[in-house]
Amino acid sequence: MPVTPVLTGRWNTPESWTLATYERTDGYQALRQALEMGPDGIIGLVKDSGLRGRGGAGFPTGMKWSFIPQGDGKPHYLVINADEGEPGTCKDAPLMMADPHSLIEGIIIASFAVRANHAFIYLRGELVHCGRRLRAAVAEAYHAGYLGADILGSGFSLDLVVHSGAGAYICGEETALLDSLEGRRGQPRLRPPFPATHGLYASPTVVNNVETIASVPYIVRRGVEWFRSMGRERSPGPKIYSLSGHVTRPGQYEAPMGTTLAELLEMAGGIRGGRRLKAWTPGGSSTPMLTADHLDVPLDFEGVAEAGSLLGTAAIMIMDETVDMLRVVRRLTQFYAHESCGKCTPCREGTPWMVGILSRLERGEGDVTDVDTLLDACDNIFGRAFCALADGATSPIVSGITFFRDEFLRAVPTGSAPGHAGTSALATESAVTESAATDSVAGSPDALARAH
Ligand SMILES: Cc1cc2nc3c(=O)[nH]c(=O)nc-3n(C[C@H](O)[C@H](O)[C@H](O)COP(=O)(O)O)c2cc1C
Ligand code: SF4
Repeated sequence: MPVTPVLTGRWNTPESWTLATYERTDGYQALRQALEMGPDGIIGLVKDSGLRGRGGAGFPTGMKWSFIPQGDGKPHYLVINADEGEPGTCKDAPLMMADPHSLIEGIIIASFAVRANHAFIYLRGELVHCGRRLRAAVAEAYHAGYLGADILGSGFSLDLVVHSGAGAYICGEETALLDSLEGRRGQPRLRPPFPATHGLYASPTVVNNVETIASVPYIVRRGVEWFRSMGRERSPGPKIYSLSGHVTRPGQYEAPMGTTLAELLEMAGGIRGGRRLKAWTPGGSSTPMLTADHLDVPLDFEGVAEAGSLLGTAAIMIMDETVDMLRVVRRLTQFYAHESCGKCTPCREGTPWMVGILSRLERGEGDVTDVDTLLDACDNIFGRAFCALADGATSPIVSGITFFRDEFLRAVPTGSAPGHAGTSALATESAVTESAATDSVAGSPDALARAH
């Protein structure tokens, strides 16, 4: 599978981040074309291209833009989600470091399309180096007349602000991001109303991921057919896959949507040290883990969903056979407990309780009912919390138990289950599960209380 260097095409060019390099390599030509096409023409083009959001949910970008009301007399905003806090996700930062002008050009085109005169890049707080590079690129773009008043004599004006967050994962959730940008504590908003009508400062707002918007100039420049020639029917285009963990050459691998992990591993030199693949996340820690049985799953929105997980941000964390799954799941659950914003009970209370149970199992102090208690807690969290952070928190646990149940029980002391003294934990597990299901022991407050 050949790599298609589109989004990463300039990354190895010397001083790829400067305006001079960008202009020398076709930069800001798409903007000229877009200004000719007019806002509706651009929205139609992006719709036809089939571009879907690269921030996780895969929402069709052109459709999102078309939800912005027209002629409403209100200011419109474009907000770029550069929070990138999902464990394993590391594509937006290198894109902004290596080729900030592709994002800025995309922002100008998208703002023109949705009739926004103010745009913001909400940058993850820790990315101080990225902030410096972006601000320098924005200054260059102003100086060259690509930003500010009457861009290239078109009559269209745009101001672009780079805003650094304070390093909270929840501020990547688009409505929490908007609250944070407005100067409030970042917590998700109740929807409806949606940001398309009541977003930043209660005005129509589009929130898009960095990679989504950086894809736009290429679509304008090269057209719908070119974009659709890559990837698959419902998930077209190029994609940056981030490979991390136990892989020989970790990094960003750009390839058409629908590329498989087997193909990506071939490019990345295989599993480190010639070991065997044990587990991997297709799209960051909030997407259910898959195993070596899923090497040939097409990594696009449909393909991964059919395999029981989610493409998410295509952040592939690779774990080899030496990995202790219980430890991985406990550590990831700790992340979600730490990052829970505390607004709703299932997430605020549930995540630390699950950390407690997992830690107890890891210390060898659990019992055979704990695994079912965990599944029961996940069942009570998934779909019952205010935002998708909590759904994501259940992914490592449920997928970990699905594929590696024995590892969760390996340290359970023999005879730990009430009434089963002296027998092996694994042997008694199914019997206890059955009794737990009938007398609700697994989900009882007592069972949960033991987590602490
Ligand atoms: C807890 C949480 C964290 C998120 N973090 C990010 C993030 O860092 N970057 C991002 O683009 N989207 C993130 N999202 C998804 C955004 O809410 C939103 O769907 C996305 O920015 C839309 O852009 P897109 O349509 O271009 O994908 C997050 C969602 C949740 C629930
Ligand atoms: S699910 Fe968690 S992060 Fe989301 S609103 Fe509720 S407490 Fe906050």
